Amino acid sequence: MKKVLLFMLAAVLVFSFTACTNTAEPAQSPEASPVAEATYTGTYTEPLKMGTNAAFPPYEYKEGEAFKGIDVEIATAIAEELGTTLEVVDMEFDAIITAVQQGEVNFGMAGMTVTDERKEQVDFTSSYATGVQVVIVSEDSAIATLDDLAGKKIGTQLGTTGDMYSKDDYGEENVTSYGKGADAVIALKGGDVDAVIIDNEPAKAFVAENEGLKILETEYAIEDYAIAVAKENTALLADINAALEKLTADGTIDAIVASYIKAE
Ligand code: ARG
Repeated sequence: MKKVLLFMLAAVLVFSFTACTNTAEPAQSPEASPVAEATYTGTYTEPLKMGTNAAFPPYEYKEGEAFKGIDVEIATAIAEELGTTLEVVDMEFDAIITAVQQGEVNFGMAGMTVTDERKEQVDFTSSYATGVQVVIVSEDSAIATLDDLAGKKIGTQLGTTGDMYSKDDYGEENVTSYGKGADAVIALKGGDVDAVIIDNEPAKAFVAENEGLKILETEYAIEDYAIAVAKENTALLADINAALEKLTADGTIDAIVASYIKAE
């Protein structure tokens, strides 16, 4: 009698378990969810603050009071993924890493190149874009190669990789660092510098806005852009990486990039 009861009980349990799993997980067609939902470690009740320097089209720039650009849109999508909203905090480029370290912002995103030096100060997420340092000169310039830059006056944006590398390669005395890339371009047009070293996409935007300038064919450096997070903030780092993975897999990132950068 006891055995029979136990058997019946077991049967009931097995049955209810199967019934339960059947109703809880209806079969999904692959079309219904092409990308698995990502799971995130943190809960984000406040807006995520992004430290940036909004003078770097097409990655970040201002249109009136509104912040626009690839980074702003990717960060907005990440914040949405994490169940919150984005707040853009505009600052000097060379202030972003400190703002991240001190927790004034949750992350830094500014077409920021991953370098070993910066990796000592912050953690970087997976890379979401490639950047290339290029050289802008005036159309009639005698400068045609990187070697031609020797002894010439170079303009850069302060604290950027273009600024640091050109000081190393061509000597600090030959490099003038401006607060904004656009100011370096104004200096080039005014003849204060002979060349500007800056990332390729902003370079294209500046050349398109200003007559009489061109970009040299030779690339100066090829780099990876990533998002900077404070070293102790491993949960946010993991969550941004998971969100980036999802937004890459479902095509969101490509769509954002394509809306700003026309394929050549
Ligand atoms: N990729 C370069 C760097 O990380 C320049 C980035 C400048 N970004 C900006 N938003 N101003 O140094």
